[in-house]
Amino acid sequence: MTDLLPYPPELAAIGAADAPFRPALPLADLPPGALRRVTFGELDVLLVHSERGLVATDDRCPHMSAPLSIGALDGCVVACPLHNGRFDLATGGVVQMPTTGGLYPDGRYQPVWCPPGQEPKPDPPGPKTDARKLTRIRRLRYYPVRVVNGVIEVAVPEGWGT
Ligand code: FES
Repeated sequence: MTDLLPYPPELAAIGAADAPFRPALPLADLPPGALRRVTFGELDVLLVHSERGLVATDDRCPHMSAPLSIGALDGCVVACPLHNGRFDLATGGVVQMPTTGGLYPDGRYQPVWCPPGQEPKPDPPGPKTDARKLTRIRRLRYYPVRVVNGVIEVAVPEGWGT
């Protein structure tokens, strides 16, 4: 039997707790360490076979929505390919802020990354700088998963064109 990675129940995606399960992928197509995108209508879901089990979340980085399915997995931590943000699949939280800086989920501010020992370059004032500063990372949101007869199923809320 394949383990399922537990996640904080309050981080279930809206409508996911009571949603019907839909077939997503043969378990054989998601070996340990794999990340895959599965699309249901307009909803892109990230399926992960982490070291602690299967888990499904949005295939949208909680920073600026890049596809995490083309990122990298290290244990239970997924790294985004766009700004190197790293997110813990077991807690939904931030392990490493994106290089662009911005706001943690609780609103704390983190400046733009700069190499150790160097002074950060001052950002030119303007809307792009403001947007980076005000972008608040969300915590990951999850979809229940199960395995039935060797097929991974995901609970997909109604209303996603499925
Ligand atoms: S979009 Fe993922 S870290 Fe920025």
